[in-house]
Amino acid sequence: MPGIDAVTRGRVLFGGDYNPEQWPEEVWQEDVRLMREAGVNSVTVGVFSWARLEPRPGEREFGWLDRLMDLLHAAGIGVVLATPTSSPPPWLGRLHPETLPRDEDGRVEWWGGRQHFSHSSAAYRRYAASITEDLAARYAGHPALTMWHINNEYCTYDWGDEAAARFRDWLRARYGSLDALNSAWGTAFWSQGYGEWEEILPPRHAHYMKNPGQVLDFKRFTSDMLLECYTAERDIVRRHTPHLPVTTNFMPLWAGQDAWRWAEEEDIVSVDLYPDPRDPFGAQHGALVQDMTRSQARGPWMLMEQAAGPVNWRGVNHPKPRGLNRLWSLQAVARGADAVCYFQWRQSRQGAEKFHSGMVGHAGEAGRTFQEVKQLGAELATLAPHVTDRHSGADIAILHDWHSWWAGAHEGRLSTRVDLADTLTTWHRALWRAHLATDFAHPDHDLSAYRLVVVPQLYALTDAAIDRLVAYVRGGGTLVSGFLTGVADQDDRIRAGGMDARLRDLFGIRTLHEWWPLDEGETAPTDTFDGTLWSEEIDPLPGAVAEAVYRGGELDGLPAVLRTGRAWYLSTLPEPDALRALLADIAERAGAEPVLAGLPDGVEAVRRGDLLFLLHHGQDPVTVDVPGSHRDLLTGDVLTDRVTLGRYGVVVLAS
Ligand code: GAL
Repeated sequence: MPGIDAVTRGRVLFGGDYNPEQWPEEVWQEDVRLMREAGVNSVTVGVFSWARLEPRPGEREFGWLDRLMDLLHAAGIGVVLATPTSSPPPWLGRLHPETLPRDEDGRVEWWGGRQHFSHSSAAYRRYAASITEDLAARYAGHPALTMWHINNEYCTYDWGDEAAARFRDWLRARYGSLDALNSAWGTAFWSQGYGEWEEILPPRHAHYMKNPGQVLDFKRFTSDMLLECYTAERDIVRRHTPHLPVTTNFMPLWAGQDAWRWAEEEDIVSVDLYPDPRDPFGAQHGALVQDMTRSQARGPWMLMEQAAGPVNWRGVNHPKPRGLNRLWSLQAVARGADAVCYFQWRQSRQGAEKFHSGMVGHAGEAGRTFQEVKQLGAELATLAPHVTDRHSGADIAILHDWHSWWAGAHEGRLSTRVDLADTLTTWHRALWRAHLATDFAHPDHDLSAYRLVVVPQLYALTDAAIDRLVAYVRGGGTLVSGFLTGVADQDDRIRAGGMDARLRDLFGIRTLHEWWPLDEGETAPTDTFDGTLWSEEIDPLPGAVAEAVYRGGELDGLPAVLRTGRAWYLSTLPEPDALRALLADIAERAGAEPVLAGLPDGVEAVRRGDLLFLLHHGQDPVTVDVPGSHRDLLTGDVLTDRVTLGRYGVVVLAS
């Protein structure tokens, strides 16, 4: 299959979503002039163009797109052509109301916004296939076309009748019989046993807590249905252009989509990333998403969307201070991105996102935003010939699995304060602050290349995954796990003893008596740190070492951190500095080194192959020791033994 190299051809892709249908054609000329000035080499076209391309059912208006593609081609700008299927025209909803999704309360999601399509609707899929077919047939041979972008941020749910029918088909295929389904869902509880397939519904609004198995399978089903929509369109465009890669853009850490599974169906993995410029850990959020996307891609990936300035969907939307756009863009390149793109090229003057920034803002060419974009375009062009390797060199893998996330998120859990996205963020942040490079991995992946495997939380694990973790440690690996790991099987059936026996043996737990979740502001003191969020009443096996011990309260004297050989178990969440210190210690014992020794706080070091990126996330100048002589690829300067980084400064060092 063609990959990203087919598109980049030695360049870093630079550009963004381009929505020329919002502008008179005179503006297009100006757009192309500015794109060339900024070094834009790739734009994504057509994401929301369905009503323009098919103004009435079955009609086609391709003339404007023909002119646009020709114009871009003449300017040497490649086109990532999107199928427009994420925002159907109003006529589709009017003609086929069944294409409109329903929420769990039965309310219709009407047109007037976007993404008002039911993944299960046969009519929607028919119309989506038809416009995709015609688009692919028309532009397959166009020289501007470089790759395909299917739909946009697949993220919809549907609890309606057609989805209910598809859900039943999906369940039939998964379980084969109602007996198997009843067993998997534990329907003996609350008289929920199903006698006929027709009785089964999506988990709609109910009087009290819903069946966890039904909710879990509905999440799996939703991810699979959206994936079917994606692969149907992908297969159409592939038939016309087998030589061109296909992607669809992920939302970071989005709960609705098993991104490991989806990534297998893409030629290029791409993601949209919008850290809050005011968030003191915005850079770490970026780092997490970039680590995860690179790991899903198992190589190069695309930053498909980011904002050059403010977004307009937070309560208060802040601009990016001078230099931050450059810093965060280069951070993505450091972590393996071969594309730095934006939503969107030109800021809109109308529509719901008119206050969302563009590469060309309302201030136009003279505006600071465009001027910074232009500078970045030039730097990316300078850097491009050098960023050919994408290896992170990470010795540490953080495990994450969507099915486990879905199962663990049931409304009937012991503490709603436990949230997997927060947990992943907290653990990744501790490793990031300790300057340790991390990949992400799925529990089914081969982990043998990593010195340390980190499990912030894997609530539900299959038998095979548990056996693999045990074998990993037996084979010489170091494993550290947080609480609520190995609690349930893949059907969300609690394992005997409250935690799988193989894992209890591995960590040195004889009996897990009780979970003791902690309230907001409540801590569980230990002899070395304060635990937060959660604590546990554990009886250790002989030979297990209590590396930290609860002090005071009901758990006085019981282990808070338990270690047996190279397997570590944290029954609480140490406060941030303690978690950082603990994970740094475990990493050191496992032989996983920080990227660079002695880095000041706020400076991030990232390796991409042989290159060393130093990224300064603060505003006051800092000096960093980097023994030896290096060339900064951005400036050509030769630097010896130390580097001074100014406000949001970046150097890219080749030795
Ligand atoms: C993304 C979306 C874009 C635009 C952007 C604004 O979620 O794909 O179309 O809405 O957000 O931040």
